[in-house]
Amino acid sequence: MDFEIFYGLNGVHFDKSKIASIDGLNGELIYRGYDIRELAIDATFEEVVYLLWYAELPKKAELEKFTADLRSRYKIPEGVIKVLRELPKDTHPMHAIRTGISALASFDKQADDLEMDNIHRIGSKLVAQFPAIVAAFYRIREGKEIIEPDETLSIAANFLYMFNGEKPSQAATHVMDTALILHAEHGSNASAFVCRATASSLTDVYSAVTAAMASLKGKLHGGANTAVMKALEEISSVAGVEDYVLKTLSMPGGRVMGFGHRVYKVLDPRAVILKKVSHNLAEESGDSKWFEMSVEMERVMDLEMDKKGKQIKPNVDFYSASVYRMLGFPGDMYTPIFAVARISGWMAHLYEQYANNRLMRPRLVYEGQRGLKFKAVSER
Ligand code: SDX
Repeated sequence: MDFEIFYGLNGVHFDKSKIASIDGLNGELIYRGYDIRELAIDATFEEVVYLLWYAELPKKAELEKFTADLRSRYKIPEGVIKVLRELPKDTHPMHAIRTGISALASFDKQADDLEMDNIHRIGSKLVAQFPAIVAAFYRIREGKEIIEPDETLSIAANFLYMFNGEKPSQAATHVMDTALILHAEHGSNASAFVCRATASSLTDVYSAVTAAMASLKGKLHGGANTAVMKALEEISSVAGVEDYVLKTLSMPGGRVMGFGHRVYKVLDPRAVILKKVSHNLAEESGDSKWFEMSVEMERVMDLEMDKKGKQIKPNVDFYSASVYRMLGFPGDMYTPIFAVARISGWMAHLYEQYANNRLMRPRLVYEGQRGLKFKAVSER
C-alpha cells in the first residue's frame, strides 16, 4: 500500500487554533486578530500575554489585576537557585535553564493537577519566573550576585534589571517589550508542536514546557539567533561577510543561520520590525558594526538566492541577534531570551490542547525486513 509521507510534517494541519495566523505568502502575522506590526510598537508584553491567553486585549482594570498577579510571582524558589549553582559554569545556557524550569515542578505541590484554573496558575508562574531563572543562571555563571526581582517593574524592565543589575531606561525597556512581543507566539512551530504533542498524553505543564525548551534549543529553530551572532563574531567585519556566505552556501546542505523559514516565503514581518529596531539602536549607540554586517549579509544572500531562483529571506532570528547584542546580552543568552517570550505562546497552546485533547500518535511506514526466524546466540 502506498502512503504519502510529509517529511518534517510539512503542510500538515493537525488541529484548529484561534491563537495566531501566519500568512507565509504575504508576510503577515496576527495574534488573536491583531496585526503584529501594531502590537509590537504600541503594546506591552503583558498586554500581549493577556491577549494570547484570553483572546482579547485587557481593559485597564483587567490589565492591572493581571500584571499584579504576574509580579507577585516573580521570585523563584531558593531550591531552584541551588540547583543552578550546582551546575558547571560552562553549562550551555539552554541546558541550565531547561533544568531550572524542570526543577520548578518539584517546588509546586499542584504541579500535576490538570484542572484549567491550575494550568493558568502555572502558566502565570512560568511567564513570571522564566526571566528570573535566565538572569540567575547568567549571574551565577559570571560570578555575580543574583539580583532579586523588583515587583515595581514590568517583565521587560525587570528582566533587564535582574540581568544587568541596573534599572533600564524607558527606551531599552520599550525595545525589550517589542522583542518579547515579536518572539511570543508563532503557531505550530517545532517547540509549540512538541509542547502540544507532549501535553497530549495528559502529562503535566512543566513536563510539556521542558520538552518545548529542549526543541527550542536547536539551531534550526530558537538556537538560530545565537548561531547568527556566532557567525557575525567569527566574520568580524563587513568586508568578510560575502566570503562567509559564499563559503557556507558552497558546502553541501550549507545553511546561513537566520535565513529561510518553513512558512514565510517572503520577508518575515518580525524581521522587518527588528531590522528597524537594530538600525535605531545602532544609530543611538554609535556601534553600527553588527547592524551593518547584518545588512551586508542580507544583501549577499538576496543576490545569491536570486541566482538560484530561491526566496530565502531573513527570519525573526536574524536581526534579533544584533538587537540583543546592542542591548548588552552575550550571544549564548539569545535563545534563553527567546524562551522568556515564547513561554507565553506555549501556554496559549497548552490551554487549547488540554481543553480539547486527543493523544497525538502519527504513523511510520515500515520498510524493514519481515519473516526472519530467531536463532540462539550460539548459532548466530
Ligand atoms: C525560527 O517555524 C517557526 O515558526 C519558527 C520560528 C518561530 O517563531 O517559532 O519562526 C522561529 O525557528 C525561525 C527559523 C530559524 N532557523 C534558522 O535560521 C536556521 C536556518 N534556516 C534553515 O535551516 C531553514 O530555512 C529552516 C529550518 C528554517 C526551514 O527549513 P525547511 O522548510 O525544512 O527548508 P529546507 O531546509 O528544506 O530548505 C529548502 C531549500 C533548500 O534548497 P534545496 O536543498 O531544496 O535546493 O531552501 C534552502 C535549502 O538549501 N535554504 C537555505 C536556507 N534555508 C533554506 N539555503 C541557505 N541558507 C538557509 N538558511
